[in-house]
Amino acid sequence: MARKKITMIGGGQIGGNLALLAAQKELGDIVIFDIPQAEGMVKGKALDLMQLRPHDGYDANITGTSDWNDVKGTDVFIITAGIPRKPGMDREDLLGINLGIMKDVATHIKEQAPNAFVIVISNPLDAMVYTFYKVSGFPKNQVIGMAGALDSGRFRTFIAMETGYSVQDVTCMVLGGHGDTMVPITRLATIGGVPVTDLISPERIKEIEDRTRVAGGEIVKLFGNGSAFYAPAQSAIEMAESFIRDKKRVIPCASLCEGEFGIDGYFIGVPSVIGSGGVEKILEFSLTDDEKAGLNKTLDAVKKTVGETGL
Ligand code: APR
Repeated sequence: MARKKITMIGGGQIGGNLALLAAQKELGDIVIFDIPQAEGMVKGKALDLMQLRPHDGYDANITGTSDWNDVKGTDVFIITAGIPRKPGMDREDLLGINLGIMKDVATHIKEQAPNAFVIVISNPLDAMVYTFYKVSGFPKNQVIGMAGALDSGRFRTFIAMETGYSVQDVTCMVLGGHGDTMVPITRLATIGGVPVTDLISPERIKEIEDRTRVAGGEIVKLFGNGSAFYAPAQSAIEMAESFIRDKKRVIPCASLCEGEFGIDGYFIGVPSVIGSGGVEKILEFSLTDDEKAGLNKTLDAVKKTVGETGL
């Protein structure tokens, strides 16, 4: 069977790590695409990664390019093209610049690989994934945004740090938009099946939820110049792997809702089944009144940013 082709659009901090992780997981051959000004940088990263292979023992081919013709036939795109946040910036502050970039990227991808599965990471995520969907005209199952996977991973991390138990055994989900209005569903969080609400005090849970909502910003502040990249990259690889290996994993992702959870026409973080058919299903479940209110609040925030795209 021929290897899959995975293309990273944007070969910066997240893009470089995406390429490394995809190679190490042997997901397929990898192309790192960036603008002509960054062509040397992505060609260099690709070559460096090629030379890492003898130590790691895999055969993926990794190339860097700024020529759109080289992405033809791609099976999975992961898009990080755009600028990241600096301290004091909201994800929404990136809209002006990243909107133009996303329109350009969507137009080219549609031309080169109309059947590909596309994972969007660029921020503001909820508006960027919507922009890609509108401009490309792709079917909804081919387009997804990476946010909830990361936000849930952060929530899991903080719960594991709090209790000292293995992060592997912490399960939970964070729904809604990729901003400060995201909704951690703590009621359903467990450690090895034991409800988190029985293990951590309500006060500490509240603090952990709050830290989760601004976890991206905490890293932006520490870096001083850029945003998180290791965990965002691995979160998107988890999604790409589920598609490539038809794992049908259930991951909170920004999927297009058409009636699910009472939301219509917006990409928002909901439990999504990812398999070889792309976004195969959204798993709906009943929410408490508080959770519903949280989701409505986050939907308003998403609507506002999406409205600013003018699409
Ligand atoms: N086409 C392809 N790549 C582009 C384009 C474009 N039109 N415009 C910019 N890029 C590239 C930049 O040249 C850069 O190499 O996107 C890359 C972005 O990399 P970084 O600046 O290192 O940013 P990164 O930390 O990877 O974050 C990328 O993901 O999480 C979001 O908020 C984050 O929007 C940001 C994106």
